[in-house]
Amino acid sequence: MRIVETARELSDLSHSKKQGGLKVALVPTMGALHEGHRSLIHVAQQHADFVIVSIFVNRLQFNNEEDFETYPVTLDDDIAICRSSGVSALYMPSSKSMYPDSFGTSVEVSGLTARFEGASRPGHFSGVTTVVTKLLTASAPDIAVFGQKDFQQFAVLRKLVDDLDIPVEMVMAPTIREEDGLALSSRNVRLNKDSRRRAVSISQGLFHSLTLFQSGVRDTQELNEAARKSCADEIAIDYVQIVDAQTLENVSEAHVGDVLLFAGTIDGIRLIDNIIFTA
Ligand code: PAJ
Repeated sequence: MRIVETARELSDLSHSKKQGGLKVALVPTMGALHEGHRSLIHVAQQHADFVIVSIFVNRLQFNNEEDFETYPVTLDDDIAICRSSGVSALYMPSSKSMYPDSFGTSVEVSGLTARFEGASRPGHFSGVTTVVTKLLTASAPDIAVFGQKDFQQFAVLRKLVDDLDIPVEMVMAPTIREEDGLALSSRNVRLNKDSRRRAVSISQGLFHSLTLFQSGVRDTQELNEAARKSCADEIAIDYVQIVDAQTLENVSEAHVGDVLLFAGTIDGIRLIDNIIFTA
């Protein structure tokens, strides 16, 4: 596994692989890798010959200094996971090489970023779109793989590549969950025992709403309420909302393909999850 630290090296590596006829995939991450990330690597390997994983804790997308300071860093484990997963190259740029003192560009997607995570975390999405533009430009992949777990992020990034004519196929991989249903997240390690136990009520609420949908309920208020009510009292809910998967606009009647978005905070730890309505 090649480890590269500068955009120039990454670009040279990717272009040489593409010239050799290989299909290149990028899996962007912030490290603290878990089974969710591993599944993205696996999906990437099914679509491409040369899989690049990037690990960069992107300060720009943290609207909260403490969240950035306490974000888990497990570099040695991450490298081992990438090696054992058959990753072809790992891109680990330093902060200075990503954002030198002279850095002064910001990439903004309007519309889709106004609500939900965008409203609750000002500046978050411009940090994400700026770094992902840099990662896609440097690695010039044929495909890029992201998780459904961050559904709004995927919708925003799909719009970014569409609007800027970035020639990459965007692939969304399903959310990987613990056995009890909790969506895997690098932030889960911060949950204490009690909070961890209560956090499971989030996915239970989403699945409860899905079951109602599958039994014929279409009224979104009723479906939103079902998910909200299942949530443990200790969870401060930010939003529970069924939206159209492309526009992220509210719908009054739920359809197959719509998505129920959730965000809430427990013990100061923000957790997001979502579920796509299936027949
Ligand atoms: P990070 O939170 O490390 O997530 C990296 C990728 O893993 C994202 O596409 C995310 O949706 C996916 N992921 C996280 N948990 C998952 C789970 N339980 N199942 C499946 N996929 C999961 O998202 C980011 O980093 C950053 O915003 C990034 C895109 C790298 C830009 O900095």
